[in-house]
Amino acid sequence: MSSAGDNLTSGADPAGPPGNSVPGASVLPGPASGPAAAAPDQPPANDRSPGGCGPPEGTVPRDACPLAVSSLDVGYPGGPVLLKDVSFTVRPGEIVGILGPSGCGKSTLLRHLVGLERAATGEIRLFGRDLWAGGGACLDEIRRLFGVMYQGGALFGDLNLLENVAMPLREFTTLRPGAVETAARLKLALVGLSGFEYYQPSSLSGGMRKRAAIARALALEPGLLFLDEPSAGLDPVTSAGLDKLVRTLARNLSLAFVVVTHELTSVMATVDRAVLLDKKKRGVVAMGSPRHLAYESGIPEAEAFFRRAGPDDSRGWPGGRPGAAER
Ligand SMILES: Nc1ncnc2c1ncn2[C@@H]1O[C@H](COP(=O)(O)OP(=O)(O)O)[C@@H](O)[C@H]1O
Ligand SMILES: [Mg+2]
Repeated sequence: MSSAGDNLTSGADPAGPPGNSVPGASVLPGPASGPAAAAPDQPPANDRSPGGCGPPEGTVPRDACPLAVSSLDVGYPGGPVLLKDVSFTVRPGEIVGILGPSGCGKSTLLRHLVGLERAATGEIRLFGRDLWAGGGACLDEIRRLFGVMYQGGALFGDLNLLENVAMPLREFTTLRPGAVETAARLKLALVGLSGFEYYQPSSLSGGMRKRAAIARALALEPGLLFLDEPSAGLDPVTSAGLDKLVRTLARNLSLAFVVVTHELTSVMATVDRAVLLDKKKRGVVAMGSPRHLAYESGIPEAEAFFRRAGPDDSRGWPGGRPGAAER
């Protein structure tokens, strides 16, 4: 776990904004742990029988598609459509970035993906299950399949880190107190926060609070994490440490991520596939690896996004402007 916590002791992690919080969601009981996990006659993951929520808790296969969005129109009730016809998928262990300039609808799309807003058109499937099956009857159950770290959210300030991470376990599992504590300690270790169990959030730096928020989002062992602007308010070194943590978790736990961000450096360091949104076109204008979008796609909106520091400024080309070395 040392890699996840490398920068914790560097002293390069100044206090940032309040740590982001995670709602108590998220459970993906491992395939071997659920009572019906091995049942050969379990219903298919995409079961949509009338009135049913799909397969019962504990049967969602780890290799099911974490997220499939099709033909989604995104907006707020009574307002304009911000994004039209959004479609993309997220594979197990994949880090997908939702990118785009401020105000284009990234956070709003995220609110739809986690079931806080409902689109008039389109479908969202999480681990094969329709988020709005039965008119939302299964929402609570499906929400336990993923974790969320919202932009500007907060950990419970009056609880220490161990209590913060333990809370969803207490609320949503039948684990005994000793097992809850062990599980919470493990999650904190996973994000490099061993030794900080009894610290209050207010006594930690911004980067450490974000790590704690991720630990809490991991408490119930989800297969997918949504992060909204994880780098917001962090200095570059701390932000790079967080990027590294995300990659480590994705690779080691096969955890899928949907990361909403507009930070280019972070995108180039972490994201496997980017979904680029555009305000004018009100939708997805490009999809692919950040490198492809930045350097090879020839898509004007992608080039504008990745080159936004200006055509003569290499800051817009993380890793250096293409061709710069030859000049
Ligand atoms: N709760 C809301 N109700 C109505 N409109 C909203 C709400 N929240 C945000 N908006 C509007 O939706 C648009 C997209 O906002 P947002 O999704 O936050 O953009 P981004 O995350 O890409 O910066 C903005 O014009 C914003 O003013
Ligand atoms: Mg936002």
